Amino acid sequence: MQIQGLSGEIESELKNSRTEADLTEFFAKYLGKSGVITKATAELGQIEANRRAEVGQILNTVRQSATQGYYAKVKEIHDAQVKEQLLKDELVDITIPAISGELMRGSLHPITKVRREVEDAFSNMGFIVEDGPEVATEFENFEAVNVPKNHPARDMQDTFWLNNGDVLRTQTSAWQNHCLKTYGPEFRAIVPGRCFRNEATDASHDNTFFQCEGMMVGEDISISNLVYFMKTALTSVLGKEIDVRLRPGYFPFTEPSFELDMSCVFCGGEGCQTCKHSGWIEFCGCGMIHPKVLEMGGVDPTKYQGFAFGFGLTRLTMMKYDISDIRLLNSGSIDFIKGVK
Ligand code: DAH
Repeated sequence: MQIQGLSGEIESELKNSRTEADLTEFFAKYLGKSGVITKATAELGQIEANRRAEVGQILNTVRQSATQGYYAKVKEIHDAQVKEQLLKDELVDITIPAISGELMRGSLHPITKVRREVEDAFSNMGFIVEDGPEVATEFENFEAVNVPKNHPARDMQDTFWLNNGDVLRTQTSAWQNHCLKTYGPEFRAIVPGRCFRNEATDASHDNTFFQCEGMMVGEDISISNLVYFMKTALTSVLGKEIDVRLRPGYFPFTEPSFELDMSCVFCGGEGCQTCKHSGWIEFCGCGMIHPKVLEMGGVDPTKYQGFAFGFGLTRLTMMKYDISDIRLLNSGSIDFIKGVK
């Protein structure tokens, strides 16, 4: 039996093992059933009794270090394989030209598209585009638009309150006060943006949605100006001739208040299922700005007046693209976005 030099031999064989196959061979050669170390251990009985314990100990040490070395090498080779695979999988060749075709390109969210069209339509008619914050003070969201504490209108606009008493705005009307103070007493502005309400969600309600506020203040402003601007803007955004009509309504921040209907986009006013065969679709609230609201914005209501309106940008988007469930818009679904043309 030759155990001198065995340690060195094992060490160098392990060092030179590069593959799993090398290691399998190594194991069979030294540690397997008929491996050198196993065999030598079995033959210990043939050694002179006075050397047996010493040789046995040496063999033990050699077996231990061969086993440890073997497992360390198994791990080393396995780790290297995993690393190589990862590199292969994650390698992105940035020099490859982009795959062409419409599906491969990113696109704007439908609400962003309609928002931009609304902004274009109104800014072409001299309106400033304001981007109010999504967090409003209680004053801005309620008091400044004539909805004091305990006013019943607050019930319909339950919202998310912050610890400091601010709210996630329930309506873009929350930015009216700022516009009056900043641009009053003569200006035109729209405020498109995200709003929030504590809503039970269904196909037509979501807790997060978009509105667009509009205001025009000056010395000779009447509701007929509003009718003209709405008709022109809607015709431009929807790409077909749209008519509008007013019905009496109620809002705390306008006096008189109206509900504005638009001719049905789907049937052009003929009557269909969507407009419940009336030819009209309820579109937004509007009216002449309440004197108290003007006053709180620092505008003299005896000298100036103006109209205001607030419509659902989300609803307009749903109408334009015939989307039947509001929840799809916040779903983050790429398939949905791709399908909107
Ligand atoms: N803020 C109202 C709402 O969320 C919509 C609205 C109605 C806005 C009438 C107005 C308005 O500016 O005059 O229901």
